[in-house]
Amino acid sequence: MGKLLEIKNLSIQFRHGQTIVKAVEGVHLDIYENEILALAGESGSGKSVTALSITRILPETADIISGQVFFQGQDLLKVSKAQIEAIRGRDISYIFQEAAASLNPVLTVGRQIQESILLHQNISKKEALNAAVDLLRLVKLPDPEHILSSYAHQLSGGMNQRVMIAMALSSRPKLLIADEPTTALDVTIEAEVIRMLLELKAKMKFSILFITHNLALVEKFTQRAAIMFRGRIVEQADSKKIFSSPGHPHTEDLIRSIIRL
Ligand SMILES: Nc1ncnc2c1ncn2[C@@H]1O[C@H](COP(=O)(O)OP(=O)(O)OP(=O)(O)O)[C@@H](O)[C@H]1O
Ligand SMILES: [Mg+2]
Repeated sequence: MGKLLEIKNLSIQFRHGQTIVKAVEGVHLDIYENEILALAGESGSGKSVTALSITRILPETADIISGQVFFQGQDLLKVSKAQIEAIRGRDISYIFQEAAASLNPVLTVGRQIQESILLHQNISKKEALNAAVDLLRLVKLPDPEHILSSYAHQLSGGMNQRVMIAMALSSRPKLLIADEPTTALDVTIEAEVIRMLLELKAKMKFSILFITHNLALVEKFTQRAAIMFRGRIVEQADSKKIFSSPGHPHTEDLIRSIIRL
């Protein structure tokens, strides 16, 4: 399997007035084609900051002080603003924890999916709406026509997250960055959504960077994992191996925390 994304020596810090807070330090991370890679670690360890830096959507107070992010032969940290904007949302898309909050409350779900399709494809509105129906089928939402005319607040958390996944996949991305996509859902729905993501990955052949603080999900659903601790990757290995013989005391702590749960 070829490498899809290669993060090298990435360091990021935040400016708080006169003080500087290091958030990510010397991170190396490889994502292969068609794999799901888990990025796990406690709250504040730098998972989201790493993920946001890939397409340069960090807050204004963040500075990337070193590193490279190679994607299809280019360093994304160096390409022009127009190029990164084209890559973002087309080749690399995101889903986040709060699906409902990412959706516009005053537009129907259908309008929003239609608009996200029209951003990337030169087709008619009618064709985009048909494509939206197909996408909703793909994410296994029953009665797509009904969903299209609904607003986010009329749907459950799990349904909204499926809508977000449909939108994120509308451009047929090569990499889906899923930042705690199921943390807000109850455990049964969480497992359903992750299983669906894995099926879609197999069918559409994209890679997933799956960010979580839940090592149980890592063991159950991923083959490879990177563990972050205080801004650094302390371990990057086969998920099963991480469980059977954790290579860092912090990983052991994370495993203990799920046993407690
Ligand atoms: N908007 C911000 N302003 C200032 N500092 C920030 C900001 N966002 C993140 N940080 C800093 O970066 C560090 C890493 O944060 P990040 O959001 O990447 O953690 P995380 O691993 O995603 O945690 P969580 O599991 O809670 O989502 C934090 O400890 C914090 O110091
Ligand atoms: Mg986070």
